[in-house]
Amino acid sequence: MRVGILGSGLMGAKLGTLFARAGHEVVFSYSHSDAKLKQLARKAGKKARAGTPAEAAQDADAVLLAVHWSRVDDVVQQAGALSGKVIVSCSLPMNADDTGLLIAHTSSGAEELAKKVPTAKVVSAFGTVPSEVLFDVFDARRKATRPSLVFCGDDKKSKKVAAQLIRDVGFDPVDAGPLRIARYTEPFTLLIAQLAYERPGGPELAYRFERF
Ligand SMILES: NC(=O)c1ccc[n+]([C@@H]2O[C@H](COP(=O)([O-])OP(=O)(O)OC[C@H]3O[C@@H](n4cnc5c(N)ncnc54)[C@H](OP(=O)(O)O)[C@@H]3O)[C@@H](O)[C@H]2O)c1
Repeated sequence: MRVGILGSGLMGAKLGTLFARAGHEVVFSYSHSDAKLKQLARKAGKKARAGTPAEAAQDADAVLLAVHWSRVDDVVQQAGALSGKVIVSCSLPMNADDTGLLIAHTSSGAEELAKKVPTAKVVSAFGTVPSEVLFDVFDARRKATRPSLVFCGDDKKSKKVAAQLIRDVGFDPVDAGPLRIARYTEPFTLLIAQLAYERPGGPELAYRFERF
């Protein structure tokens, strides 16, 4: 697949690198530093390059939206034509100092994003794990049991694309249903963040659902 990365920070840089390692063509975009984007691309290998948000979105089978909530409008505008595109979003609707959700209960960041780009197909994924665990999950992908990763969205084909990317990073995709379920997955991330950053053990934390 061709995957455009919109936001090459903690999440975008790591996920983009892992998508490239998994064999996808990746374009890193949206940073204050073009040099950083180029270095990321160099390190991620031959399948990766740096570009503008518009270049990242062009011809992409999926774009990963990985920016702070306050930057969503800007990066979406810079990306240009997103009509018909699969947008896999890990972005959470956090306030400016990242202490709470700006949107919850009656809507979600993912649903508000879908309203901003109504002709695109939004899937909410990857936002429920800390960036610190991503490389470890990838390295452990051949183990018998994989950590879960919940995702949700309204479009079946786009969810298949997202599920493939989730598998490629080393998780077991758990389809939680329609996009409005992001109302539950987004606050769930605050629990994960509490365990990762405020409790002992370190932020290299993933989760696994089991049925009995
Ligand atoms: N970090 C996590 O563990 C985690 C986990 C789950 C969900 N999330 C969510 O995922 C999203 C991304 O988080 P993150 O931690 O990856 O954020 P981040 O590290 O701050 O990365 C954001 C990216 O956007 C770029 N950017 C910001 N303002 C810009 C501007 N004015 N012009 C150009 N580029 C700009 C940053 O540039 P620079 O490269 O110059 O910094 C960076 O590449 C957020 O919505 C967050 O809530 C994060």
